[in-house]
Amino acid sequence: MIDWIREPLGRHDLFHDVIECLVAALEAKDVYTSGHASRVADMAYDLAKKIGMRGNRLDTIHIAGHLHDIGKIGIPDQVLNKKGRLLPHEWAQIQQHPEIGYNILRKSKRLDRMAKIVRFHHERWDGKGYPKGLKGEAIPMGARIIAICDTIDAMTSLRSYREPFTWEYCRQEVAFNKGKQFDPVLVDAIGDLWGIWEKRYSTSYNKERYLL
Ligand SMILES: [Fe+2]
Ligand SMILES: [Fe+2]
Repeated sequence: MIDWIREPLGRHDLFHDVIECLVAALEAKDVYTSGHASRVADMAYDLAKKIGMRGNRLDTIHIAGHLHDIGKIGIPDQVLNKKGRLLPHEWAQIQQHPEIGYNILRKSKRLDRMAKIVRFHHERWDGKGYPKGLKGEAIPMGARIIAICDTIDAMTSLRSYREPFTWEYCRQEVAFNKGKQFDPVLVDAIGDLWGIWEKRYSTSYNKERYLL
């Protein structure tokens, strides 16, 4: 009798740990994204809580944050880890990852809501995202939250081809993209989370990862 499976999705239960192991399998393919999913999951949780979400909805967004890039497991290593500029057909392959992730997660009925969030985490508020070009409130709230947190972590993290951007620069970029790439209400809601995140994921943390 496996009782834990009926518990709500907590951040510290076995279900959560299994999800983290699954993501570690993906991140083993790419050292530069090490810890990315966990940070996005935690930031998404913070932002969802800030706009008043509670209980299961909060946990769903947190877990979806962990899993948002799981579809990259289906992308060939030479494309995923390519150092130089991506060719158009390689870029098209990378853009398959939300759909691949969706197809992986929807195999479980219990992960159904996470699957939809993962599918749409690269949509944009202005409708210029992918895979469907959904616009505004047609994009699930969880996906809109993860889109912002994903960008913030990507910008402030080291990549093989560039140094991390500063938190100040990142803040300006997110503000510039308010109502374009991102839900304007969510951008305004970040507020004091900027300072909290900067402290938590400071440059020294990035340097530590550089040594991995
Ligand atoms: Fe992604
Ligand atoms: Fe991501």
